[in-house]
Amino acid sequence: MGKYFSNKKLKANNALEVDLDVDKLKDLEIVKSSFLWGTNQAIFVPEKFTSLKPSWGGDMEWISSNNMNTYNSFLKAFESFGFDQILKDVIERENGLRLYAGFFLRRSSSKKSFHKDWTSKLKNNAFTLLTPLYQEEDALHLLYEDIDGNECKYKYKIGKGILFGSDFVHSTEPGQSNNCSILLCFQFGTDLSQYNQGIWEAMGTQTPFMILPDGRPIDRSKTKKHNEKVLEITTYTVPM
Ligand SMILES: [Fe+2]
Repeated sequence: MGKYFSNKKLKANNALEVDLDVDKLKDLEIVKSSFLWGTNQAIFVPEKFTSLKPSWGGDMEWISSNNMNTYNSFLKAFESFGFDQILKDVIERENGLRLYAGFFLRRSSSKKSFHKDWTSKLKNNAFTLLTPLYQEEDALHLLYEDIDGNECKYKYKIGKGILFGSDFVHSTEPGQSNNCSILLCFQFGTDLSQYNQGIWEAMGTQTPFMILPDGRPIDRSKTKKHNEKVLEITTYTVPM
């Protein structure tokens, strides 16, 4: 099983802040081709992405790849950060970490909605990375519950990312900012097939296209049982 850990700085379990090279971040192909750096101006080709708006309010948009090419662009970015090394003693894996999906999050307003991305069922074998690409002065940050159950605020900073795994209870800060801020998000973790179902259940509503721990793609836009909690696997193979 994955290893649980505690973080003194954040006073939280299974979460840590990492440094990300800003020059590298702005040079990533997926970033350069999607937003004008230093602004929230989108320049991406909409056909290559799917935008979903969660139901809890605000104008939050999850913009994710809807095909293998766009996924591979996120993957290149993901692999350049070396999270494999950072989490080598935490995430159980056979060959290496798997990126399940990459996203851009765009929002200027949100309501409070505490949740866990990953439950204890996944045994700290799946993580989320959030890092800002563009922030308004009055940007909304991240609220989380510390180990005593107190509500804390984590402030996003360009060049810093937050990684969190199982049982990290969090919410976007509620409020209304002047304009949209943009975050880059990776959801990733173990490559062990025994977690296929759990990962799919955790992410099933966030994107119609994702890669399972064992490397197979799920494309719910191509399946009829689009909204059912049934693990469906398309027949094409993933380039490994
Ligand atoms: Fe979340």
